[in-house]
Amino acid sequence: MSSVAHSDNDNDIKSALPSGKALVLYVERIMLKNFRSYGAAAVDVGANSVVLTGPNGAGKTNLLEAISFLSPGRGLRRAKLSEVTMLNSDAPWAVSGRLMTPDGERQLGSGLLPRSELSSATSPDRRVGRLDGETISSPAAFGDILQVAWLTPQMDRLFIEGPSGRRRLLDRLVAAYHPSHTREVNAYEKVMRERARLLVDGNADMVWISTLESRMAEHGVAVAAARLDALEKLSQAMMESQSAFPRASLALDGNLEDGLVSRPAVDVESEFCAELAECRRLDAKSGRTSIGPHKTDLKVRHVDKDMPAELCSTGEQKALLIGITLASARLSASQFGAPPILLLDEVAAHLDENRRGSLFDELGEIGSQVWLTGTDDSLFEEMKNRAVFFRVKDGKIEAE
Ligand SMILES: Nc1ncnc2c1ncn2[C@@H]1O[C@H](COP(=O)(O)OP(=O)(O)OP(=O)(O)O)[C@@H](O)[C@H]1O
Ligand SMILES: [Mg+2]
Repeated sequence: MSSVAHSDNDNDIKSALPSGKALVLYVERIMLKNFRSYGAAAVDVGANSVVLTGPNGAGKTNLLEAISFLSPGRGLRRAKLSEVTMLNSDAPWAVSGRLMTPDGERQLGSGLLPRSELSSATSPDRRVGRLDGETISSPAAFGDILQVAWLTPQMDRLFIEGPSGRRRLLDRLVAAYHPSHTREVNAYEKVMRERARLLVDGNADMVWISTLESRMAEHGVAVAAARLDALEKLSQAMMESQSAFPRASLALDGNLEDGLVSRPAVDVESEFCAELAECRRLDAKSGRTSIGPHKTDLKVRHVDKDMPAELCSTGEQKALLIGITLASARLSASQFGAPPILLLDEVAAHLDENRRGSLFDELGEIGSQVWLTGTDDSLFEEMKNRAVFFRVKDGKIEAE
């Protein structure tokens, strides 16, 4: 199955952007192979924002997920990577994108290795990256080239579920400001897993465990410090913004973050190291790590209602999330010289007409390339001269 679609009205659209801003970070072309419902597909959108409409199950979210794989991590569904490969296909999935960035044109690709290229040491569930034609061992470097942010219907439960989803959102927000943050989080978690495994095994060399704990403390404090810094700036940006979306106050509940507010980083680092040593027996029993920045929670409040986000209505929670995403996009634009690419899955459907109009206006003012989805064309009336429209149906993506 193959589908190639393109739009030829790029210039009209660019001049119609309300702010008159040129987008300097955008996916010009995206190609998919054996990616979920797509055997092969390619879409050319130029510098435009994109509206994807089509019935349930058409493949709209799949396309957004493919774009999310042009950033580090597990994509917007956090799927098991082997499940992304189209059922019954003989080769693993691959995505590639031609991008325009503030540093010029870049070619990014990602996917799983074919079975024949897997060595016994490589996990079949690890994705590799390609950057300007060269294979790279991991897509972590993509974070230095582009920022991608997303909102999905799954995130509607973010404030009422456990802290892990909020922590992931937090770390994505931080990475939009400190690009090395994702590497630091990964490094912390890798050492944490090694310490936990050795403690459970039972006959670990305690000198080695101490070394691992020192590294955990070093990476952990860097993670917590970046979170505090980015959140302070994000909160400030939100308080100053003239957005139609509610202002959120953001706070952190975590032992290292709490410590860093009042004590020097070196002290927090050595205290954390000592606490880890005290927890060894407990952690050996549970197979977990009792304390650390992997337990931090993001506390969100609706400022004008003076209410915790978890007590707000579903629509208010969605509006808070949109407000946070827009503020983060504004902040990241000031840091990188270009606003992030935004993937907004079924966001328009949840908003009343006024809010929807405000969202489209604010997106135009920020200047991000936005990929919007919905089942119904009529929701996007106001995007008609601000985006290119594609109809997704039966595994095909066709320009309208
Ligand atoms: N690995 C896979 N192989 C083949 N098809 C898959 C795979 N994973 C998911 N699909 C299918 O892809 C189709 C499109 O899914 P997608 O989530 O993109 O739809 P959608 O257009 O976003 O629909 P909705 O409006 O309901 O959100 C679904 O029918 C799903 O079953
Ligand atoms: Mg969908």
